[in-house]
Amino acid sequence: MDDLVEYDGTTGTFALHTPTTTYAVRLTDAGPRQVYWGPRLTLAQVVSVPDRPRTGDEVLGEELPGEGGERFGPPSVRLEFADGTRAVEWRADGHAIDGGRLTVTLVDLHYPVRLDLHYQVYDDGDVVERWAALTHLGETAPIVLERLDSAAWTLPPRADYRLSYVVGEWAAEFQLKRTRAAYGETTWTSRRGTSRHQGNPWLSVDPGDTTEEYGEVWSTALAWSGTWKLTSRRTLADDLVVTAGAGQDGLRWRLAPGETWTTPVAAGLYTRDGFGGLSRRWHDYARRHVLSHPDEVRPVLYNSWEGTWFDVTEANQREIAAVAADLGVELFVMDDGWFGRRLSDSAGLGDWWPNPDRFPAGLTPLVDEVHRLGMRFGIWVEPEMVNPDSDLYRSHPEWTLHLPNRFRTEVRTQLVLNFARPDVAEWAHGWLDRLLTEHRIDFLKWDMNRAFTEAGWADSADPHRLWYDHTRTVYAILDRLRADHPHVRIESCASGGGRADFGVLRRTDQVWTSDNTDPVDRIAIQDGYSQVYPATTMGAWASENPNPLTRREIPLRFRFHVAMAGALGVSGNLRDWSKEDRVEAAAMIVLYKRIRHVVQHGVLHRLTPPTDQIVVVQYVNGDETVIFAWRPQARHGHPTRPVRLRGLDPEASYREGSTVYSGAVLAGYGLDLDLPPGDYASVVCHLTRVGR
Ligand code: DGJ
Repeated sequence: MDDLVEYDGTTGTFALHTPTTTYAVRLTDAGPRQVYWGPRLTLAQVVSVPDRPRTGDEVLGEELPGEGGERFGPPSVRLEFADGTRAVEWRADGHAIDGGRLTVTLVDLHYPVRLDLHYQVYDDGDVVERWAALTHLGETAPIVLERLDSAAWTLPPRADYRLSYVVGEWAAEFQLKRTRAAYGETTWTSRRGTSRHQGNPWLSVDPGDTTEEYGEVWSTALAWSGTWKLTSRRTLADDLVVTAGAGQDGLRWRLAPGETWTTPVAAGLYTRDGFGGLSRRWHDYARRHVLSHPDEVRPVLYNSWEGTWFDVTEANQREIAAVAADLGVELFVMDDGWFGRRLSDSAGLGDWWPNPDRFPAGLTPLVDEVHRLGMRFGIWVEPEMVNPDSDLYRSHPEWTLHLPNRFRTEVRTQLVLNFARPDVAEWAHGWLDRLLTEHRIDFLKWDMNRAFTEAGWADSADPHRLWYDHTRTVYAILDRLRADHPHVRIESCASGGGRADFGVLRRTDQVWTSDNTDPVDRIAIQDGYSQVYPATTMGAWASENPNPLTRREIPLRFRFHVAMAGALGVSGNLRDWSKEDRVEAAAMIVLYKRIRHVVQHGVLHRLTPPTDQIVVVQYVNGDETVIFAWRPQARHGHPTRPVRLRGLDPEASYREGSTVYSGAVLAGYGLDLDLPPGDYASVVCHLTRVGR
């Protein structure tokens, strides 16, 4: 096998190779500069790429620009030494190569600080992982840190650039936008404590002519679930740099002598295979290097939220569980309302014991009953939160984020616990661990339903650290729970898809994508989610009719067909579902179980944009392919066109039922979609290769 990382000592050039790409940096007097990121080159070819050290009157291409010198862009490293100096002057202080890992070390010419730039490439995918670590080498005064990004990415010169990203809000997450890169600086950020609905910590750049299947794209995704900032800067000379890291503007914290501050990973990816190729590579990366159980199929779950809302009781959950089991559900998840005095969203968060009126003998009878019915048992928690009307808050008001002399802004009548406090962290881990130890719980839905406000910590000498340490504590608790309860699977939720990123996916198995379960709205939400994250992590429920949020009336078949493009779940008051609906839902679940290994483990091809009259997505896994076609609204005079499939063997034949198709015809002419007439028409095709 060729070396993943090569070094040319004469020119100081490193070439990091992935199967189809090369990322190259060159050491200069001022530290490493990126010289190349694109289709794979040899080391000799990379060495011949000339330096392009300036744009206008500024330094260009630094891997992690700081302040000082002719640097006028957004600093990726922002620090202040004890004497007030903010400029950095680096000199290279060695490097280490270990398989696919490269570390380049810089030290300041005068001040006691070291910056390690880390890179990791793999032989099974084109992602370049980057992160940084800053170490205080001195013995006395602290260094003030204001920013340490994971990576700055300098895009190769092109005449134009377009940016792809998602924006959103609650119940409308992951809305994909593609806009021409503005000149000047454009920032995407979260100041809310989590990655949140309003954006997601990734950004893709293309030259403006890339399509779903063809063309170049560069992309970066930050593996971090707290606040974040990504800034793109385009100069008059059309040089474009993206810097990406954890934390928002305005934070300051102290690095103590001897301490190292390490960033999360920013992953980068280049492809020539269009936006679809980019997504497939991100999904593959998630499976190989992020998810812990990528080879499992996610079970069909039932969730009580849109069925019984806050009114969960042992009796009603038993009744619904019986119906759910009949439908073929494999995992029964009891959502909010089971603990403390949690009769609505105004009380109880923090009091994590079963409500004695609702569960007089505790949770065990229900857990046992769910298992007896042949399902796994899951439960909802929101560990980072407290209602002021709770025993926890009455005994520990100091545990919440707050500022002296300021209101404690309540959102959903709740406050945020300061997870940066060791006593809070210990308390949270303690009750979660007991909950899992004392009950046969198989699944946790970890929710987080409000943004940070007044994020202060009066007793702390360094309060801004809590923005990072809160997220680190969430990660640490998840890591411990998973280590100690290895059979438990976890869903990340933050009022829907407010905490979906490669950081949380390293510790969870799926995401609750959105509180919007209307399948018409979901088509766009799922399309945006799928740009980076794979279907196996995309929780999707077929829910009530009319939809609880939008009040739209939609046939059950359409609701299921849209949800079946992810990790299928069901919600609603199943006791009231008609016999016909139950029979149809059970049939849908049977079908889903037949195709889910293709959906969850296959590769995705988005065959149409999500705005087309008929939206078609295809998954391919080995010899099988599954096609979903959805037409929310029929329009007269717009006939159904055949849809050309991708990823099939043109020499092979594919069968569905008694119909056999040629792979070449499916790719060249296409598949005629057998859509029923009218609105909310949908179809699922499952084709299996039958040989050449
Ligand atoms: C927000 C989640 O997104 C919902 O699914 C549900 O769990 C509620 N919280 C419960 O309060």
